[in-house]
Amino acid sequence: MAKGVIIQGSSRSEGDTSKVVSLLSAGTGYDIIDLNKKNIGHFDYDFNNRDDDFINLFKTIVTEYKTIVFVTPIYWYSMSGLMKVFFDRISDFLNLEKDYGRKLRGIKMASVSSSNDERFYEGFEMPFENSADYLGMEYKGHLHTWVKGNNVPEKVKKNISEFVTKQINK
Ligand SMILES: Cc1cc2nc3c(=O)[nH]c(=O)nc-3n(C[C@H](O)[C@H](O)[C@H](O)COP(=O)(O)O)c2cc1C
Repeated sequence: MAKGVIIQGSSRSEGDTSKVVSLLSAGTGYDIIDLNKKNIGHFDYDFNNRDDDFINLFKTIVTEYKTIVFVTPIYWYSMSGLMKVFFDRISDFLNLEKDYGRKLRGIKMASVSSSNDERFYEGFEMPFENSADYLGMEYKGHLHTWVKGNNVPEKVKKNISEFVTKQINK
């Protein structure tokens, strides 16, 4: 099976989102990258953050993996700030070292949200789907998950398992 990676975008490494990430990793065998443990500065038009963790991290991702699953908590109806900054920084590779940026073409992307509520927000998925399209990536869809009192409900576990077999691995 082609190697994939899960990019975890929570502001706490051992919170609700990490529980969902663990289940996804167990179901796919994919590696995990925790953005909370990386030093990634905001996008800068003069590329003043080029010496932080992003450049090497991105090069590793596009070189080693065929699928990227973005897993983010819902913060203010949107993806987390950590994850949004990751997407902003992809712009570095549309300007500097374009050869690495082009490596995203053909890589698969899926997105997963987590919150404490089954309720999902219309429009949440749009930035993932449109970014995949813009970057020439193959978009595999979105799953919303929720955690109740530190536990992942059975229904969510079942949804994760189906998402892996019917969308990510399809
Ligand atoms: C800054 C912040 C903003 C949030 N905004 C929302 C929101 O708009 N909608 C929602 O359903 N939950 C919202 N939540 C709740 C989180 O989505 C929920 O607690 C999630 O499980 C947290 O995951 P984590 O432990 O990985 O951070 C918010 C939480 C935080 C900290």
